[in-house]
Amino acid sequence: MATMPADRSPDSTLALLRAGYRFIGERCERYDSDVFKTRILLAPTICLRGRPAAELFYDNDRFQRATAMPLRVQRTLTGRGGVQGLDGPEHSDRKAMFMSIMTPAAIQRLGQLFDDEWRTRVAAWEGAGPVSLYDELGRMLTRVVCAWAGVPLPASQVERRAVELHAMIEAPAVLGPRHWRGRLARYRAECWLADLIERTRVGFAPAPAGSALAVIAEHRDVRGNLLPRRIAAVELLNVLRPVVAVDQYMTFAALALHDHPTWRERVRDDDEATEHFVQEVRRYYPFFPIAAARVRRTFDWQGHHFPRGRRVLLDLYGTNHHPALWPQPELFRPERFAGRRVDPFELIPQGGGDHWAGHRCAGEWITIDLMKRAVTNLVTTMRYDVPVQNLALDLHRMPALPPLGLTLTNVRRAG
Ligand code: HEM
Repeated sequence: MATMPADRSPDSTLALLRAGYRFIGERCERYDSDVFKTRILLAPTICLRGRPAAELFYDNDRFQRATAMPLRVQRTLTGRGGVQGLDGPEHSDRKAMFMSIMTPAAIQRLGQLFDDEWRTRVAAWEGAGPVSLYDELGRMLTRVVCAWAGVPLPASQVERRAVELHAMIEAPAVLGPRHWRGRLARYRAECWLADLIERTRVGFAPAPAGSALAVIAEHRDVRGNLLPRRIAAVELLNVLRPVVAVDQYMTFAALALHDHPTWRERVRDDDEATEHFVQEVRRYYPFFPIAAARVRRTFDWQGHHFPRGRRVLLDLYGTNHHPALWPQPELFRPERFAGRRVDPFELIPQGGGDHWAGHRCAGEWITIDLMKRAVTNLVTTMRYDVPVQNLALDLHRMPALPPLGLTLTNVRRAG
């Protein structure tokens, strides 16, 4: 049996918070191993990165999700009782519910709403002074996703809901007031949506057929029961919150266009180049650093022992930057995707493996589609300047966006 390298510190929770996205990668390089053990939240934990590790991690016979996610993440980002913590037939049933919402026609409808919203906003930005792209996108996506999902949202509530959805995403990896803001935001948003689910079920708030609201409110589980209203609210939030979070990737895409201006011309009227550009944004820029699971039953892998119940963290960011998979991983090079088949365990910003059978992100196609539309809109519908500002990404923070989002000035309609 090989000896698994061990992190020397008695507990690495603070180091993980401090090192952020590079925590696992730095140690893998130090120990010259893609597997090592450490202690996180005072409990023994195994950390993994790389393609073989991702394939192992998404093997449902070896890993489960129940009790894997720390409570602070459940209380802010994911909620409790949702699809992320389910296993076996319960997970398959709930995941099928999500995947039934993600039809090509529904994705196209969402995209069309987004394009329409974009055109309206460009007209408003023209002559209106500096625009914080990240903040604007957050409000735009809040409006768009609620309209698409069948969730009524008066104009006066857009700002408040956008702030709540952002607060949940920012809260898991921080201590203090930002963490508590995220918990309060989740509480309020769950109350709002649980009430809506209830009113939909009794016919007071009819939902358009096939919308996320209708599908989730009417879903019956493996035993034929409706979901408890609080859990239905968590699942509806599992659609609203991450669609709004695509604003981070869109901001990164705008940053990449700024840093690599030759790509502005290359993506214009070229769907394949736009796809490569978007895939490289998802690979290169930091989003969710890790995924967590527990060993379902004891096994050995590559000479290392994985005891039952042990928490295991897969480095999503580190796998997307693994030098064995991505030559010169710290360079932004969309052309690396030309002619490359995208393997389900190599490019894993939204998890790996199969969308239906495992925990891979249900919204990956939506994300890619919306990002492509944002890139196309940025280069075809408007012109703008990017004034001097601090655009440094802080890999110690989540989200690792530039401190003020991305400010655009002198926005005018193209053509
Ligand atoms: C799961 C990332 C957008 C819905 C996940 C996971 C990651 C992720 C890392 C967990 C994978 C795992 O546990 O192994 C992202 C990123 C997004 C995004 C970076 C870009 C903003 C979306 C969108 C939706 C969505 C747009 C819905 C419309 C979900 C759901 C799950 C999930 C429901 C749980 C899947 C399961 O446990 O089976 N996502 N996601 N995500 N995502 Fe996304």
